[in-house]
Amino acid sequence: MEKSWWKESVIYQIYPRSFKDSNGDGIGDIKGIIEKLDYLKKLGVDVIWLSPVYKSPNDDNGYDISNYQDVMDEFGNLEDWDQLLHEIHSRSMKLIMDLVVNHSSDEHAWFEESRKSKDNPYRDYYIWRPGKDGKEPNNWESAFSGSAWQYDENTDEYYLHLFSKKQPDLNWENPTLRNEVYKMMAWWLDKGIDGFRMDVINFISKVPGLPDAANPEEKAYVGGGQYYMNGPRIHEFLQEMNKEVLSKYDIMTVGEMPGVDAEEAKLYTEQNRGELNMVFTFEHMDLDSGPNGKWDLKPFNLLDLKENITKWQTGLQGVGWNSLYLNNHDQPRMVSRFGNDQEYRIESAKMLATFLHMLQGTPYIYQGEEIGMTNVCFDTIDEYRDIEILNMYKEKVIDGNMDQNKVLESIYVKGRDNARTPIQWDDTDHGGFTSGQPWIKANPNYKQINAKQAIQDPNSIYHYYRKLIRLRKENEIIVYGEYELILAEHEQIFAYTRSYHDEKLLIVTNFSEEQVEFVMPKDYTFTPNELLISNYVLEETEAKRTSFTLRPYETRVYKGY
Ligand code: NOJ
Repeated sequence: MEKSWWKESVIYQIYPRSFKDSNGDGIGDIKGIIEKLDYLKKLGVDVIWLSPVYKSPNDDNGYDISNYQDVMDEFGNLEDWDQLLHEIHSRSMKLIMDLVVNHSSDEHAWFEESRKSKDNPYRDYYIWRPGKDGKEPNNWESAFSGSAWQYDENTDEYYLHLFSKKQPDLNWENPTLRNEVYKMMAWWLDKGIDGFRMDVINFISKVPGLPDAANPEEKAYVGGGQYYMNGPRIHEFLQEMNKEVLSKYDIMTVGEMPGVDAEEAKLYTEQNRGELNMVFTFEHMDLDSGPNGKWDLKPFNLLDLKENITKWQTGLQGVGWNSLYLNNHDQPRMVSRFGNDQEYRIESAKMLATFLHMLQGTPYIYQGEEIGMTNVCFDTIDEYRDIEILNMYKEKVIDGNMDQNKVLESIYVKGRDNARTPIQWDDTDHGGFTSGQPWIKANPNYKQINAKQAIQDPNSIYHYYRKLIRLRKENEIIVYGEYELILAEHEQIFAYTRSYHDEKLLIVTNFSEEQVEFVMPKDYTFTPNELLISNYVLEETEAKRTSFTLRPYETRVYKGY
């Protein structure tokens, strides 16, 4: 298998609005990030992925971009950004930027032109259609509730927006638009960035004709994903982008791809196809959703996770490359979702980190994960800020008749604001995030859970992450070893091995709060030499055993042969 720096790296995601405020306006900013670079260096991460910092009216916190080549005022300016890049590189870290080109903001100059008239040169940069029988052109639902079409009186047509109505979809069928995007990408790459995370990049090719989606229950609007996820020209567009731009630089790319499966991911990530390095799958994020989507809560089942992770690990082995994540700015906090954020917060956060970092692929840490930040429960809807939450609440509670508490409950479990509360730096007001009023309230548990405390405590989650990252640097097997699942049917233990040359790793994780017996399968030979890491203190004699009792959320990693 070919070696690459981005396979050996650990990536840390910054959601700038919530990371660190340097000027007291309550909003995180670029100077705030610079203040914390030494903290990240000490943690050991190699690459920083910066969620969007471009000019934006912030309908969707920067994922609605009005100028791709400038910085949002609240975050600073281009000079601050240049300094950020310089400071990152001078610490031998790398920077990847978020590329959001499935859609722009409706306040982007292209869209302002496009909506002026049907013969405007920018008209075809977006997807405009006349209505059908006095209604929208088709029945697709927006990811943020309601129709995916917005009527524009000016030209008596509708434009497509798969996200909010302030995020019109760009028309990738138009070669002039594609070239503009490539030019913009090259402009950032020429400044010296190290790659891109590409927002919903597998949505850019829509099925011609934009057909209605099947609607057996006769709902007002339905998901049209099959007509735009992994669409007919997607591989062609990505290969063109690669040829025109990406291939000219030593960079890494990761495409965010709802609706991608492991088979399709091979096409996106196989090296000689010239598309991307990695994709973000959503399959493991959907395991706790019922048939009606993310707000339809369903208990998470370990056997489903095993089956899914194994499919990706074995599917991409030797072909493409996995990205490894359990949370980000769109997902609830991993310790609240897959662990226990009360009694076993520390144990379960360490167990989940071990589980993830020992898989084959590049691990992504989402800000605050390294100190075990948890979900938040605000008492009222007014405390929430996320457009997805607010639109859904309006549709279900204000316009519909659903029980408010039931809807709030689903927000507590799945809402994106769980991940967007300010980073808890210390135990002062608002967790030390800002000297002013934060744009979204801090999680009240900042007095107990904060970075200052974590740095001082040698047994903290933070120091455990440092060790995990260090182990990756010291053991090539953690990066390149081949994965094999063992104990496939066990309902509490997720155990797997990694093999590389004549070495093996055994990774054992207890996903439950019960004591469980780990017994090595009879047909598997493994002789341990060394315990690499564990989240409980173990007696010396324990370290050489391959059958043992696991305590709640216990994890162990052995090296041997
Ligand atoms: C995915 C991003 O991660 C999310 O935050 C955003 O709302 C949508 N794409 C639209 O850009």
